[in-house]
Amino acid sequence: MDTVLLEMKEHIATITINRPKALNALSTEVLEDLNTALAQVCATKSIYALIITGAGDKSFVAGADIAEMKDKNVDEAATYGRFGNQIFRRIENFRCPVIAAINGFALGGGCELACACDIRIAADNAVFGQPEVGLGITPGFGGTQRLARLVGAGPAKEMIFTGRNIKADKALAIGLVNSVVPHDELMAAAEKMAANIAKNAPIAVANAKTAINEGLQTNIDAGINIEVKAFSACFATEDQRTGMNAFVNKEKVDAFAN
Ligand code: CAA
Repeated sequence: MDTVLLEMKEHIATITINRPKALNALSTEVLEDLNTALAQVCATKSIYALIITGAGDKSFVAGADIAEMKDKNVDEAATYGRFGNQIFRRIENFRCPVIAAINGFALGGGCELACACDIRIAADNAVFGQPEVGLGITPGFGGTQRLARLVGAGPAKEMIFTGRNIKADKALAIGLVNSVVPHDELMAAAEKMAANIAKNAPIAVANAKTAINEGLQTNIDAGINIEVKAFSACFATEDQRTGMNAFVNKEKVDAFAN
């Protein structure tokens, strides 16, 4: 993997998109490397939280690679769009929570990558935007779908139709990010959040993620059924016995089994 760095430490993995000279733009090579890194993290069962960030001080990801895209025909563009979407969907459905640590530009595919993650923490220099219509295209890696689901149709349409960027404080105000922190505290904040997640029962966290994601696709009654399934399945785990016995015995859980 030349364009993506992967670090795995205790229960937390960090994937860094590492193409700073092109502001971490998502070329096919970057997407392929990202896919490979995701597969490695997925196969490492001791990892309970994943952080995705960009290399350098300036950019998370400045979008899909415009130079690579510009000569594509309709079929090639569809193949590229499907590939990006397949990877971002993999992130959305990843078996553990994924935190985007947004360290600068999150434009086009970069904003879409952030939206595919479960939690977004932005540095105070972060800039968000969907500038695609200014390039003569629509967002292509989920921007027309996830952004509206996250912030509502009005703000999403404003961002997508105007192509204008917004700063971190505005992104926080519209609910696009969970929090904004000083740039030099970004990774510490993401790691703290990841550690807070990783100390909990991993199957319970994973079941909760599935229930939220699947529930958002359906009506409330079907959603409640999804929740009952997720909740009751936890009672087949050692972690449920560990967690509840610790509570009634007034003890702390040292570590969950799974
Ligand atoms: N694709 C390819 N190369 C990119 C890129 C991108 N999306 N964004 C930046 N780069 C490259 C630049 O071409 C430049 O390369 P060279 O040094 O070889 O010239 C290098 O990164 C540094 O960029 P700038 O000199 O432009 O840096 P800047 O600080 O002046 O501007 C910026 C920063 C505002 C982010 C500007 O680079 C920019 O507007 N980038 C494009 C953003 C964009 O339009 N993203 C959407 C892409 S389309 C998309 O993502 C479709 C989709 O939904 C899948």
